[in-house]
Amino acid sequence: MNSPVMQGLTNLNTPSHVKNARLIAWVADMAALCKPDAIYWCDGSEAEYQRLCQQLVDAGTFQKLNAAKRPNSFLACSDPTDVARVEDRTYICSASKDDAGPTNNWMAPTEMRATLNPLFDGCMKGRTMYVVPFSMGPLGSPIAHIGIELSDSPYVAVNMKIMTRMGKAVYDVLGDGLDGKGEFVPCIHTVGAPLAAGQADVKWPCNKTKYIVHYPETREIWSYGSGYGGNALLGKKCFALRIASNMGRADSQGPSGSPGWLAEHMLILGVTNPQGKKYHVAAAFPSACGKTNFAMLIPPAGFEGWSVTTIGDDIAWIKPQPDGSLRAINPEAGYFGVAPGTNTLTNPNCMASLTRDTIFTNVALTDDGDVWWEGMGEAPAHCIDWQGNEWTPAIAKETGAKAAHPNARFTVAATNNPALDDAWDDPKGVKIDAFIFGGRRSTTVPLVTEARNWVEGVYMAATMGSETTAAATGQAGVVRRDPFAMLPFAGYNMSDYFQHWLNMGEKLATAGAVLPRIYTTNWFRKGDDGKFVWPGYGENMRVLKWMIDRIEGTAKGSEHVFGVSPAYEELNWTGLNFTADQFKTVTSIDKAAWQAELKLHDELFAQLKHHLPQELTETKALIEQRLAA
Ligand code: GTP
Ligand code: SPV
Ligand code: MN
Repeated sequence: MNSPVMQGLTNLNTPSHVKNARLIAWVADMAALCKPDAIYWCDGSEAEYQRLCQQLVDAGTFQKLNAAKRPNSFLACSDPTDVARVEDRTYICSASKDDAGPTNNWMAPTEMRATLNPLFDGCMKGRTMYVVPFSMGPLGSPIAHIGIELSDSPYVAVNMKIMTRMGKAVYDVLGDGLDGKGEFVPCIHTVGAPLAAGQADVKWPCNKTKYIVHYPETREIWSYGSGYGGNALLGKKCFALRIASNMGRADSQGPSGSPGWLAEHMLILGVTNPQGKKYHVAAAFPSACGKTNFAMLIPPAGFEGWSVTTIGDDIAWIKPQPDGSLRAINPEAGYFGVAPGTNTLTNPNCMASLTRDTIFTNVALTDDGDVWWEGMGEAPAHCIDWQGNEWTPAIAKETGAKAAHPNARFTVAATNNPALDDAWDDPKGVKIDAFIFGGRRSTTVPLVTEARNWVEGVYMAATMGSETTAAATGQAGVVRRDPFAMLPFAGYNMSDYFQHWLNMGEKLATAGAVLPRIYTTNWFRKGDDGKFVWPGYGENMRVLKWMIDRIEGTAKGSEHVFGVSPAYEELNWTGLNFTADQFKTVTSIDKAAWQAELKLHDELFAQLKHHLPQELTETKALIEQRLAA
């Protein structure tokens, strides 16, 4: 590729250690298109992090928190219109519409490129383009993949430093690219707010037009107009879920006969019993439905000798091994977690992680330079809310104003977590013994159910419903189908995704493996008073132990129309006062409610009928028969 002529930019500033020709050509092309004033290649060093944070403080984006209370920590408050993922602006631009499927927004690649090109043209004027090299997964691991994000947001650069293995060493893995290796996923991001000469910047630049675009065939990500979370930190949802789910399936379609792999919206935890036997569980809960909490769980009273350790809190890459086992890694290196509701009782490990070295986004600032959010503990008498307004409990009572945005988040390194698993960084990953799928449902869905086999488990995951949360823009609290907690993240046709899971199970079973058990959970059933009946959080250990008892063959369970659930006596209740009646409230299966629920499964299957695996319609018919009996 010829070096493009660059207006106002004469030098790519390519460091001498960057040798990958494809990378350099791409940076040149993107610079020619976006026309930044300067290009800065991140090295990932601590000194660089500190420098960029100071720059963000000087620009007014960051507020440095009280160093005595919250060392090395910052608060960023976003534009009030840029606070969550924008699912309606997220596109899978595969060549064929069928490949994106009915659950994704789609536009033909040529049409999308024609739409984006004028938007990106000059979009970085007056700004610096940061070149952010990162590895998803341990550097150089056979399971890991490399991405390069170009962004005009220093907020993105510092968040990527925490969330990924970011820095210079990535270039060593990339090499010169001449050996046919050195692949990377190109990720281009702009806040879409070019500055004219002399124009002053705002503290959170963004654009009301937003596009989060994926081209699966060429494995490119283009993000326009937002600076927030999953819209802007492109290693996370865009790469590690939408593009990676495509990669994992593509590997199953090659000539090698490989079963491919899975990229999932799952936490990964280790759980060790008092005898020292350790199991690994991967759990998919929709956004803001308890992954971070479950991944950092502290076993309650009655579980002396048990421990839970965190491998990951949001994303799992899961690869089958020759012996038929599944091994999982967390491709991330940090947590971008929900702040509201987090406190020393609900998640003590998380609170301990956040005592230092944390970037907070959209929480409230207290008068002593610390942070506060709803559900953290006693409200301060006064603070500045996430929108910069005075906030007091009285004002909140009168106007309903929230001190923190409901999707306020923290960014913190995994290494800050006291419960971090020793193997969290192991390139081989950990062997998965069970999968959990858990929605947020006030009614209908029982506390825990075990699928009788892989296909039944895939059915339950595929038809999972959940009430929407503040993690995405739009109305919160509406039940929608969220198959595998992947509705916003599956990078290809959802029915093909189900088929990939079914094929995976079949191939592993053929290899002679004992497949991981599949469970569904619901921590969120409500009583007549509108309150959660199940105490949740650490108490979820009681359910986790039942799952392990099932794996070990010591819990009998009782069979019902769609699986196996525990009797009251099968859970360890030591240390918790939870009556058999209360248990019934969270486990009862109401026939009429399930008949209505199955109608919703019908609707989903009608929507997904193209390529819908027959096993799933057969499983549904069996459930219907049992329900009618
Ligand atoms: P993403 O990062 O958006 O993918 O979400 P996540 O699944 O990691 O969500 P997180 O663990 O941060 O949970 C967010 C919300 O769920 C908070 O409001 C918590 O208080 C609430 N929550 C988590 N676990 C439980 C539980 O066991 N019971 C109840 N009732 N609420 C819970
Ligand atoms: C989610 O919404 O599931 C998240 C937060 O984990 S974000 O990275 O913003 O997508
Ligand atoms: Mn998530």
